[in-house]
Amino acid sequence: MKQKAIISLLLASSMFLVFSSTAQAGDVAAAKEKNSMCSGCHEIDGYRTSYPTTYNVPKIGGQHEEYLLKALEAYRNGSRNHPTMTAIAASLSEQDIKDLAAYYAGK
Ligand code: HEC
Repeated sequence: MKQKAIISLLLASSMFLVFSSTAQAGDVAAAKEKNSMCSGCHEIDGYRTSYPTTYNVPKIGGQHEEYLLKALEAYRNGSRNHPTMTAIAASLSEQDIKDLAAYYAGK
């Protein structure tokens, strides 16, 4: 009797782990509502920003997801610096970064 209870408790907690870890992964669909603030720069081939000086905007579509994650985290925590990207990354949550990295990696 007691063993059954323990087994079902274990099952329930492992199910919880499975569900909570999938919720953490980058969500491409969610990113489609978030990328409007990126597409103006990153989805135009050969685009240059005039700030801070005339600057080539890197192409991020098709880049490795892990690379995009690291780049955005680096802007957010200040270890990589660029006036525009640092400001934008500061406004992103960890989940936003995961979603956007998954979205651009899949483009
Ligand atoms: C105003 C134009 C602009 C906007 C808007 C913008 N970016 Fe950027 N982004 C840049 C520029 C310019 C760089 C290159 C900066 C540098 O050299 O560090 C860059 C760099 C990056 C990089 C690093 C690429 C690499 O190869 O190292 C990533 C990732 C990135 N942006 C993602 C995003 C995401 C996601 C958004 C939207 C939340 C966004 N950017 C919005 C202009 C922009």
